[in-house]
Amino acid sequence: MKYVKLGNTGIKISQVVLGSTNMGWRIDEKQSHKMMDKAVELGINAFDTANIYGKWGEGGYPGRSEEIIGNWIKERGNREDIVLATKLYGEMSENVNDRGLSRKHIHKALKGSMKRLQTDWVDIYFTHTFDAETPVEETMRTFTALIEQGKIHYAGASNHPAWRIMEALWVSDKYGLERYEVLQPVYNMAKRHTYEQDIVPLVEKYQLGVTSYSPLGTGFLTGRYGKEKLPETPRVEGVKRSYFKDRNFETLKTIKKIAKEKEVTMAQIAISWVVHQESITAPIIGANTIEQLEENVGALDIKLTKNDLKKLDEASDWKILDELSR
Ligand SMILES: NC(=O)c1ccc[n+]([C@@H]2O[C@H](COP(=O)([O-])OP(=O)(O)OC[C@H]3O[C@@H](n4cnc5c(N)ncnc54)[C@H](OP(=O)(O)O)[C@@H]3O)[C@@H](O)[C@H]2O)c1
Repeated sequence: MKYVKLGNTGIKISQVVLGSTNMGWRIDEKQSHKMMDKAVELGINAFDTANIYGKWGEGGYPGRSEEIIGNWIKERGNREDIVLATKLYGEMSENVNDRGLSRKHIHKALKGSMKRLQTDWVDIYFTHTFDAETPVEETMRTFTALIEQGKIHYAGASNHPAWRIMEALWVSDKYGLERYEVLQPVYNMAKRHTYEQDIVPLVEKYQLGVTSYSPLGTGFLTGRYGKEKLPETPRVEGVKRSYFKDRNFETLKTIKKIAKEKEVTMAQIAISWVVHQESITAPIIGANTIEQLEENVGALDIKLTKNDLKKLDEASDWKILDELSR
């Protein structure tokens, strides 16, 4: 496993991060613990969660994923060995202030996450998305105080449009506050446009770390989905909504061809393509089985040639497709 510097911070993370949307939803606590043990065995040192994860499915509730991870950390006694990221923003209860990025909610949300994760600090604390109702200065001042208290080490922003990241960086600079050091956007071969057009230039200019999510398009890019062929998973409706476009089915053909040439899987090509992008520090991968996890981490051994990358880029190029749709 290679370890890469996270943007302009002083820490290093494995070339892939293990995500946890599935923990407490698609897989139970026992299976989740096995998955994290295997991840550590494979060299993964970075884990991503969010306070709302675990709320899906029967018997689910917000915080369940964090609890599962917290129990694992406690049982293994490995808190110092891992880089742990969690997020806040989403509704944690019906209380009107139990959401968003206000000072009040940040303090409450962090306390809740630290309790469930059984830790005294969070390495990267992400805003799950922006809060149009709270001044950015309030959020960044609160994050700065928490960093000074050692309760969080770095601030991150997920799902932010470029101008909101830029505004936050500007506010931090203007008032001498801690800034967002890490971004967590969606990025994969079927969702390139927004990230490449708007976010990459600011990632490069401000040396931000990027742990992007959904390298497989939540499963679409593995080839498990066809227009008439749907796998059995609760993700089907979401995948159909986000990825069922003729152009994406065309992209799958090139992924399949290159996977066949290299005798690897389509999932591995899709992950490898993200890993090969210069602005990406490490994609966050998700898995339901140990076999999937091993397969996905195996993507790190694949070397895509200039020619492979050219073919994949052309097959998923939003610029060409935009021209064609004019
Ligand atoms: N910041 C955010 O808003 C945000 C949003 C989404 C995710 N995330 C983070 O990013 C992580 C990864 O996101 P993601 O789950 O969307 O990632 P992904 O890698 O695009 O999709 C993972 C899903 O793909 C399928 N899959 C995984 N490996 C496979 C393989 N080898 N062969 C066939 N199918 C495979 C499984 O789908 P099935 O479950 O259908 O079997 C799995 O749940 C999450 O766990 C979470 O930590 C963050």
